[in-house]
Amino acid sequence: MKGVLKLASLLAATVAALPAVNPVKESSTILSPRQAACNGPATEDGKFFYPDMDRGESARGKAPFQGDDGYAIYKNVVNDFGAVSDGTGDQSQAFQNAILDQGRQDHGPIFKQPRSIFIPGGTYQLQNPIYVALDTILFGDPNNPPVLKAGPGFTGDTLVSAGSGDSSQSTTAFNIGLKNLVLDTTAIAGDQQFKALFWGIAQGCFTENLKINMPTGGSQHVGIDIASGSTISVADVSITGGGTGITNNNQQVMFKNLKCSQSTTCYNGAGGYIAVLQSPVFDSCGTGARTSGQQVVIIDATSTNSGEVINGSGGAQIVLENISHDSTNPVAIMDGNPVLSQAHTNTWVWGQAVPGGYQTGTETSNPRPTSIAPDGKYYIEAAPSYANIPASSVINVKAVADHPVLGDGSKDTDDGPALNAILQQAADECKVAYFPFGVYNVKDTVVVPPNSRIIGEGWATIIGSGDNFKDASNPRPIVRVGDEGSSGVAHIQDMRFTVGEVLPGAIIVQINMAGAPGDVAIWNSEITIGGDAASSVTTQCNQQDTTECKAAFLGLHLSASSSAYIDNVWVWTADHDVDSTPDAGLQIISTGRGVLVEATKGTWLVGIGSEHHWLYNLNYVRAENVYSALQQTESPYMQGAGAVLTLPAPWDEVNADYGDLDWSWCDGGDQRCRTNVAQNFEGGKDLFVYGGANWAFFDGEWNGDYGASCDGNCQTNMNRVGADPTNLQAYSMNVKSADNVFLDSKNTDTSTQTYGGSWGGIIDAYRVFSA
Ligand SMILES: *[C@@H]1O[C@H](CO)[C@@H](O)[C@H](O)[C@H]1NC(C)=O
Ligand SMILES: *[C@@H]1O[C@H](CO)[C@@H](O)[C@H](O)[C@H]1NC(C)=O
Repeated sequence: MKGVLKLASLLAATVAALPAVNPVKESSTILSPRQAACNGPATEDGKFFYPDMDRGESARGKAPFQGDDGYAIYKNVVNDFGAVSDGTGDQSQAFQNAILDQGRQDHGPIFKQPRSIFIPGGTYQLQNPIYVALDTILFGDPNNPPVLKAGPGFTGDTLVSAGSGDSSQSTTAFNIGLKNLVLDTTAIAGDQQFKALFWGIAQGCFTENLKINMPTGGSQHVGIDIASGSTISVADVSITGGGTGITNNNQQVMFKNLKCSQSTTCYNGAGGYIAVLQSPVFDSCGTGARTSGQQVVIIDATSTNSGEVINGSGGAQIVLENISHDSTNPVAIMDGNPVLSQAHTNTWVWGQAVPGGYQTGTETSNPRPTSIAPDGKYYIEAAPSYANIPASSVINVKAVADHPVLGDGSKDTDDGPALNAILQQAADECKVAYFPFGVYNVKDTVVVPPNSRIIGEGWATIIGSGDNFKDASNPRPIVRVGDEGSSGVAHIQDMRFTVGEVLPGAIIVQINMAGAPGDVAIWNSEITIGGDAASSVTTQCNQQDTTECKAAFLGLHLSASSSAYIDNVWVWTADHDVDSTPDAGLQIISTGRGVLVEATKGTWLVGIGSEHHWLYNLNYVRAENVYSALQQTESPYMQGAGAVLTLPAPWDEVNADYGDLDWSWCDGGDQRCRTNVAQNFEGGKDLFVYGGANWAFFDGEWNGDYGASCDGNCQTNMNRVGADPTNLQAYSMNVKSADNVFLDSKNTDTSTQTYGGSWGGIIDAYRVFSA
């Protein structure tokens, strides 16, 4: 009894410390210490800036590659389409028109034709499903989130449907976002099969402050049905009722801050390979999570008045860490047997461990540095909603009199100097910098100074071009967050950063700034190379020999002085054109490096995708104090046996300053060995890694045939540990089509022949270098 009481007060403290789902609370509890640093931005109660921004002809967002100067990115579903918010009628056609007017297609382009649809507060009754097209954000007023409510006469079984159930389509269903919305199915009988949201999606998609209300008491409803596909993150979702909160068949997903109340089952890992649930809350649920074969990692869970935290079967490999559970029901049931009974803080593993072999529920203590887990839990934060910041506290970068900015995507335009002046002004005045959609061409580095808050409209894009970014021996950032050693706030969300041409010396985004946890952060943003209508890379890089297509030096650089929180960021070297670009052929692009982490003061990667980069997708070089959860990677399609170039070519100069690899562990002509490394760990200390989703699909030349996967495995090694780290803890490392999960200095056997499962191989606990 004593123990239970103690737990109860602990739980209360835990709930209070979670990022508040209510945005009003969020700005008062999280923003105020930061405001002190810059006396702003000024707030007003209940006032949300977005609908009040200047949308005059020169100030509004424009899509320069869309082909119609009158094309509107921003739409208000009430003002522009006559939706009625009093809970009557059928508003589905108004929503559908807002999504599809001006010639938009359901599965259309993803970078050149964005649409941001604002939904004022109120209740919108729907009698038919809404289909959400690609490159679309639906968002409500965070002070008064709109309710999309299924009417009692609803036709169909899905309230909102995004992406596709067909895996050949769902893996290319990019760029769909939902924020500040409530989906409500309570008017539909609980014994009817019904879904609030179908989510058949890939990278670039996000949820933010999404609430789902379903009938309670054993209903059949599903909150989110995540189909096959390849997304990165589903975050900040709060679910009430339903038979299942979330059912998930996606390849890999990071679930951050999922909360279920009174759901029969909160999470069902029905298919796919790996899911990480960070800080889930199961309140009065029958079952927290179940899986019938998917690998599941649950970290920092709070289970109150609920059944088991996990019910696993079908060979699922499980990691539990720091689980609060206040009922007498078991914490874990595996194959029908209760195997863990009490709340605990240790790391519990059910699955293949190296060293140690197959574990059936062993525990180890895994202390966390306070730099990444200040109150014991790994730090998380929701993207700021700026709920109470009026338009007067926001600078529209296209509406600053002295600093004209075009965002017209032209290589002749240089928006850089004006953007630098505007960002400095926004920081000085403590205002939010709002980027209406545009393609902002810059010819030199854009600097994001301390006290910056940046929000894009529909993935507004900063695109680098010109000679400043062409010298691979002297790489230069297109966007640089702070100087070496600077500290302060830099919050960036809903932006895209890219290259307008082949730029072998471009570091697309570099972060140097540090601060308290969450001070320096990027949410729901993209770093892309090629594949879009805005870049000449898309039309030029179609030769098997990529020597002339070293399109960027590095995607994202977290430098040694930085401390950054990176949440749902997709770093993509394109493998195909997604904008129906005229004259786009195959995309055969060699981006040198994906994500380089040299930071030591505290780094959080909370859902990161890094795909098709030539030398590595992720490289942790002498990094310390790193929390990394859900790393989705794909090797480049044109390496391995039969490739035209053998690594490191065409990046022949090994640059030690950037932790480059030299493949000295491979024979000179061994093409299967000389392939991209998904994740490289070079020395460092206190590296906590959960949920590797490291896949390879193709080898040899790339001819665009997605059906022609490599024969057997594509590559020898998927991940590598270089200079031995002090305390590397890696959990649920899943690989596809590689002989070895890791290559390390101890020649540890990590072969997928020994450690099969998942999509080819899994090591549930790799602790060769653990403390
Ligand atoms: C655990 O899951 C299995 C398979 O889905 C199911 O048959 C069983 O009833 C569940 N156990 C509990 C205690 O819920
Ligand atoms: C686990 O979570 C609790 C709060 O629920 C926290 O106080 C504790 O420090 C956490 N971390 C570890 C490693 O136990």
